[in-house]
Amino acid sequence: MTASIQLPDYSDASPARIVDALEDSQIVYFERCPLELPLAEDLDFLREELPLQTRIKNVSYHPESGSIPRFDAPEPVRIRATAILKEHSRAVTRYLERIVPDLTPGWTVGTCSFRPLEEEGRALKPRSSNEIVHVDAGAYGATRGDRILRFFVNVNPAVDRVWGTKGAFSALLERHPELLAAAGGGGSRRGIDEDLRDRGYRRLIAVLSRIFPLLKVLDSSPYDRAMRRVHNHMKESEAFRRDSSGYRELRFPPFSAWLVMTDSVSHSVISGRHALVTTILVPLRNCRRPELSPYHVLERAL
Ligand SMILES: [Fe+2]
Repeated sequence: MTASIQLPDYSDASPARIVDALEDSQIVYFERCPLELPLAEDLDFLREELPLQTRIKNVSYHPESGSIPRFDAPEPVRIRATAILKEHSRAVTRYLERIVPDLTPGWTVGTCSFRPLEEEGRALKPRSSNEIVHVDAGAYGATRGDRILRFFVNVNPAVDRVWGTKGAFSALLERHPELLAAAGGGGSRRGIDEDLRDRGYRRLIAVLSRIFPLLKVLDSSPYDRAMRRVHNHMKESEAFRRDSSGYRELRFPPFSAWLVMTDSVSHSVISGRHALVTTILVPLRNCRRPELSPYHVLERAL
């Protein structure tokens, strides 16, 4: 039988304790979502209307464009969904500015998504499947070691959201040397430092994306490529998927919330429907203990 973790509640925790927990690859859990959620009728609208409109796994509001790209729905639905997600994104960022102010300077507020579909049994390709344990890699082009911070809320009024985890990125690298081999990519080049070619590419993308902002997603770095290979290996290797050492399940009841650095906490979504997910990129320089970050873990190991 799979062990289930009972998470401690961080509702009364200090900013320092929350930041330490996040950087130490803990899940900062709130039994009741600590910020104001969308109105009940707006949540009903998201839960009932969006699954009718889309077969995509996320309905994602992008703050940089102020819209939900590729969302094929009648205009009133689009306008209302955009307004709800925009306001939730604002509520999350205001809350984080209050509880973890040291993480916020220079951060990039990314997408705010609603997950309209049941996660269990979706038969997606491994790389796209949330049901397989992985760490997140790559967000909005290259991160270069900046941290992927996500705030989740289960807005299903009746059903838990269930996660699986095999623990922290650093512990996984120790237990699974093949992940380190995957990170290295098998090429002659070692390490994650940028060379002249990487820096040239970075400058080119920076210039071009001033004219075409969407080109930012083409940005890349040795660190981001290494993390992408680790992510893909976790999802595609039969041996890694079968290995259940350290595996635990977590249950997030209706209207609970949790804050996680998902580049270092391995996770899968076993089941659940109707979650709000806000993604933020936190500069690595803001971290209190940068040596714990995947960037420095990989830098030391490769
Ligand atoms: Fe993920």
